Amino acid sequence: MSSAWGTAGNVYPSAHPLARHKLTLLRRKTTEPKKFRELVAELAMMLVYEATQDLPLHLEPIETPLTVTQGATMAAKIGLIPILRAGLGMVEGAWKLLPQAEVWHLGLYRDEKTLQPVAYYNKLPTEPTVQLCLILDPMLATGGSAIAAVDVLKNWGVSRIKFVGLIAAPEGITALHSVHPDVDIHVAAVDERLTTRDDPFPPGFIWPGLGDAGDRQFGTG
Ligand code: PRP
Repeated sequence: MSSAWGTAGNVYPSAHPLARHKLTLLRRKTTEPKKFRELVAELAMMLVYEATQDLPLHLEPIETPLTVTQGATMAAKIGLIPILRAGLGMVEGAWKLLPQAEVWHLGLYRDEKTLQPVAYYNKLPTEPTVQLCLILDPMLATGGSAIAAVDVLKNWGVSRIKFVGLIAAPEGITALHSVHPDVDIHVAAVDERLTTRDDPFPPGFIWPGLGDAGDRQFGTG
């Protein structure tokens, strides 16, 4: 599917060596919450950099101390949409790159038994105030939370939406693209699979993954 801003609906696992290095530190079970939060913020900045490479620009003359030349400034209003609570840790890094972005929080948690997303916070105004939304959530597991978030944003009136996460399961990518094929997915890595009832861990976790990104950031695990 194409749009005014290029081809949409692709999966972009980062090939950057720094992203792979930082993700390795993030996966390590001995990484403590303070370091974990720093890594989440740093990876978020790198992934948002990659996710924004097709943003439209407004061309305008700019006066340097020496002469006049052509400059380019951002032409689209951007919204950062962190999914509470694990997405909160990605805002800092994303905002460093996009200080003019609006931040609209969505509260969604995954019911531990049904794995279905439950919405609990949404203060979006009636009319959309941005043209591109970057959903920030470290994990794309079953895809239920991301689908629910995109549903909310499309109902709000935004048509250009990208998902920026740290890791994704193939099952979550398939689920999100089966409902919203136009949403680009930017992650540090696509992992092997989701855990099932046959695993010695709760079902629905990303494998090999990094555990629960919310618990590991906030020290609640
Ligand atoms: C995690 C994660 C996503 C969701 C992904 O949140 O941050 O929001 O699960 O799972 P899904 O793709 O199967 O929907 P969680 O429900 O653990 O809430 P938290 O962020 O408050 O820890």
